[in-house]
Amino acid sequence: MPSPTYYVSTPIYYVNDAPHLGHAYTTVAGDVLTRWHRQRGEKVWYLTGTDEHGQKIMRTAEANGVTPQEWCDKLVGEAWQPLWEHLNIANDDFIRTTQKRHTDRVQEFVQDLYDKGEIYKGGYEGPYCVGCEEYKLPGDLIRAEDGTELCAIHKKPVELLKEENYFFKLSEYGPKLLEFYEANTGFIQPESARNEVLNFVRQGLQDLSISRSTFDWGVPVPWDPQHVIYVWVDALLNYATAVGYGADQARFEEVFPADVHLVGKDILRFHAIIWPAMLMANGLPVPGKVAANGWLMVGGEKMSKSNLTGIKPQDLTSHFGVDAYRWYFLRAIAFGQDGSFSWEDFTARYTSELANDYGNLASRVAAMVGKYFGGELPAAAADGAAEAAVQEGLARAAAEADRRIGDELDFQGGILAVFDFVKQVNGYLTEQEPWKVAKDESDAGRARLATILYTAAEALRGVAVLLNPVMPDTSQQLWDSLGAEAALGSLADQRVQEAGVWGALTPGAKVTKGAVLFPRLEEKPA
Ligand code: MSP
Repeated sequence: MPSPTYYVSTPIYYVNDAPHLGHAYTTVAGDVLTRWHRQRGEKVWYLTGTDEHGQKIMRTAEANGVTPQEWCDKLVGEAWQPLWEHLNIANDDFIRTTQKRHTDRVQEFVQDLYDKGEIYKGGYEGPYCVGCEEYKLPGDLIRAEDGTELCAIHKKPVELLKEENYFFKLSEYGPKLLEFYEANTGFIQPESARNEVLNFVRQGLQDLSISRSTFDWGVPVPWDPQHVIYVWVDALLNYATAVGYGADQARFEEVFPADVHLVGKDILRFHAIIWPAMLMANGLPVPGKVAANGWLMVGGEKMSKSNLTGIKPQDLTSHFGVDAYRWYFLRAIAFGQDGSFSWEDFTARYTSELANDYGNLASRVAAMVGKYFGGELPAAAADGAAEAAVQEGLARAAAEADRRIGDELDFQGGILAVFDFVKQVNGYLTEQEPWKVAKDESDAGRARLATILYTAAEALRGVAVLLNPVMPDTSQQLWDSLGAEAALGSLADQRVQEAGVWGALTPGAKVTKGAVLFPRLEEKPA
């Protein structure tokens, strides 16, 4: 049963290091989805946070001569939370797995599974990747030239671990999961990710080791505190503990389960296999969708701290601005596919699509209303075929953007629908030549000019509403410039479903030429 709240989550990020472009990519996508559904008038809950236990964090802290908790506190406070604020991320909560509200509930959840007979003690030996915090199967490994076995994702040697652990009977959930995937074909997105999971589960699942006893940076297993709970079990439970699991039942039912878990493709199996199986085992509802995004690549490799060549999100926002940053990655890369970032591509798209197509349109229209009508939005006199085409164009763009972004998580397709409309409006002005019509001071000439400028301004009203989830600051600037607030209220309250309904702007609105939305770029910093 879906809950009344549209619940979106990002992965909770490991805080062994500062965030990079890859992390910001998923978090921005989640933010756009969140804002989109808020503008549909839905109740939305957007959760992000940090994954702070496990060997990877412990080793990083040790290497830096501080305790793991000190390390996490510092990174969360100085790097992670400030970045989300900087990028205008409207998350409703930020969960940290070291918080008591989380650890207590994790223990309860695991204890419940134990009491239900879903957990047993056993031994395991196998190759482990600390980067992934995961035991690897033979198919997950590649060989270095000297024969060393490496994790295919991190390209680092795996460690052979042998331990007595507690196991969750994951193997028993294969058939149930397959049945579930069959009945819910949209559960895993995109199709390639769904196929990967189906193939994996069809081959048969192994039981999952859910505790570790060789280190202690984790949540103690309640019935055997010599063990800590496996970091992935601990981490996945954040999606439940953050929304009241075991603490506030009413709230839990209001929000849980997630409608969309956004994840990178490398952590798909955890979310699409282990997580629903854990929930099934405890009789809890499973999520609506796991949407896997591709990787941002550098030089043909997954972008990571070590191969980033030093680019931080802030290096890009200080040059291109926060809104353009939020827009660029979703615009340039089809969601679900890998994509690479290049300074040149960003610059080219910024200049042609944001500054020339969109920004110039906004400033030209405001300038003409200022020049020809003293800044007072005129009423359209008689609409002809050209106006009808613009009206239809907006209705189409709005419907398409709503379906693609809101339903399909096709951010690129949705953004393109809006920008195609922007192009259409530019074409309309080029054809109608209001600057020439302005020379005709007859009543008919004035009426024609009024119609053209109302049409262009009203078109921009729709664009501001539709781009607000993606670029909230510049959309607000445009909203202010159109003087829309007085009659229509705040931009965030405008419904995306109604963005295409023509005629919302009221004649007489005070149109002002605000600051340029997308200023010319400075030279690329050295
Ligand atoms: N802590 C786990 C997630 C637990 S969720 C219950 C984890 N953390 S992570 O920090 O390593 O990665 C978090 C997310 O960032 C993953 O979805 C991963 O795919 C994503 N990305 C890391 N590098 C990335 C790129 N270069 N490109 C796109 N996303 C990338 O895994």
